[in-house]
Amino acid sequence: MNHTAIDAMVDRVDDALLEYFRDKDHTCHPLDRAMEYSVLAGGKRMRPLLVLATCQELGGSLEDALPFSIALEFLHTYSLIHDDLPMMDNDDLRRGKPTNHKVFGEANAILAGDALHTEAFKVLAHAPHPNLTDAARIKIIEEFANACGRRGMVAGQVMDMEGSRRDLDLATLQLLHERKTGALILFSVRLGAYLAGANEAQMKAVTKFGRALGLLFQVVDDLLDIEGDAAQLGKTAGKDLDQNKATFPKLLGVVEARNFADGLLSDALEALTLCAPKEKLLETLAMFVRNREH
Ligand code: IPE
Ligand code: IPE
Ligand code: MG
Ligand code: MG
Ligand code: MG
Repeated sequence: MNHTAIDAMVDRVDDALLEYFRDKDHTCHPLDRAMEYSVLAGGKRMRPLLVLATCQELGGSLEDALPFSIALEFLHTYSLIHDDLPMMDNDDLRRGKPTNHKVFGEANAILAGDALHTEAFKVLAHAPHPNLTDAARIKIIEEFANACGRRGMVAGQVMDMEGSRRDLDLATLQLLHERKTGALILFSVRLGAYLAGANEAQMKAVTKFGRALGLLFQVVDDLLDIEGDAAQLGKTAGKDLDQNKATFPKLLGVVEARNFADGLLSDALEALTLCAPKEKLLETLAMFVRNREH
């Protein structure tokens, strides 16, 4: 990303993920290998980065946030493995490699996703923290479950599949994106804020930031599906049109979708001014989310 502090954070997240898979149980051989394959294939690590950056911006410690942040990468990777399955988006390429089910078969891919899902909750229950109360931890886990499940990412994925069968209006498409992608991104920044011991005003600002950023992330993903190519994206381009997906460029046209994304970036940056960040970490991440090419 060409930002020294953020590049160093990516290395810390990658190291923590690698460390997690050091302990192998050879009686479950294909499971560990399938989980590890997709998690360690790469990826931008955007959700853990948002946990770490938010925590640090609000005066918390990166060391305290790091063990929690990998829960987001486990959950996100599970969502990608399932998203790529033949009965969903039917993709062959992910993170520059053959998709999980292409290598391990559909049953193992489903089960690797299932295990990454549960592992994410274990991480949040287990990660050490110097002054997080049990009550606060339970609240965090409940919020995480809401972001993932029947009113969050999974609900968004169902709306996504429905959306390829009938036309959606703008409000419904926005809700779809807020759920399938926005909810986890919003949770990532709120987790960082909880771990920093944020006050109410900071939490409100971070929530506004996370909402705009989460929606922005998926609008840009939709644009990249049209404007990018497989080598650059590490996943097949042109899939959305192919599968008649409901996307912002499809509904608004590419130019208006870009303008909409610019507006969301402004909203995100404006929200940041309300929580007095210490550095420019979140600003840098937001600019990256708007201008990324992969
Ligand atoms: C892709 O997410 C799927 C969406 C939610 C849009 P990312 O673009 O964060 O994928 P990785 O983690 O970098 O591979
Ligand atoms: C995926 O959205 C959102 C998830 C919950 C994984 P997409 O289907 O657009 O993600 P890509 O383009 O395959 O990465
Ligand atoms: Mg999808
Ligand atoms: Mg997909
Ligand atoms: Mg996409």
